Amino acid sequence: MIKGFIFDLDGVITDTAELHYAAWKKLSDDMGWQFDRELNEKLRGISRMDSIKVIMDHNGVSLDEDTVVELATKKNDIYVESLDDMTPEDYLPGARELLTHLRSEGFRVALGSASKNATKVLKQLNATHFFDVIGDGNSVSRSKPAPDIFLYAAEKLGLPPENCIVFEDAEKGIDAAKAGKFHSVGIGPEERVGHSDIRFDTMKEATLFEVKSYFKDLF
Ligand code: BG6
Ligand code: MG
Repeated sequence: MIKGFIFDLDGVITDTAELHYAAWKKLSDDMGWQFDRELNEKLRGISRMDSIKVIMDHNGVSLDEDTVVELATKKNDIYVESLDDMTPEDYLPGARELLTHLRSEGFRVALGSASKNATKVLKQLNATHFFDVIGDGNSVSRSKPAPDIFLYAAEKLGLPPENCIVFEDAEKGIDAAKAGKFHSVGIGPEERVGHSDIRFDTMKEATLFEVKSYFKDLF
């Protein structure tokens, strides 16, 4: 039976993907690196350090580890500054409604994000109270597609994976949910999250009613 829900943050609760894009673009422009939206798609769901390595590989650049950390920190400073403008108006349409609904029906809810800035984002949105457990980029070391962050969240919720549904917008996030034997809801296009149990184009369509209708034997 489904007792818990685990949410990715960026691209599911709020559209921080755009702010990550702008920050990587600024760093890349400063460095003379090629970076566009297509490459940005490859960064969805993966950690900051994995992301900069993808960008450097794409540009055929190799630097010593200290410099890479320094540049990733620079990107993060730009990103974190842009979060100051985020407000409770910046939920993706449907996300706050779903979280409110889950609370009122008494489900256990966790965050399962790769971001080390998750608590700040939740604070800006005024969303912290929706979550019983926060799993973020500081909780585990192996990032998605490893299932670790979702296993961490489920364990803290006190639930086995088969009792939980994971919401994800990243290809590697759905890979992680499947690797951990979680039920999964994909948010986004078929070519990205078509391997989820059920997929919706946006969070607006992913209502509790629709999710319950699909997983009807589990409620
Ligand atoms: C994920 C995003 O949620 O968090 C990635 O999809 C991002 O794009 C990753 O790189 C790490 O985020 P942060 O905030 O720790 O740099
Ligand atoms: Mg995401």
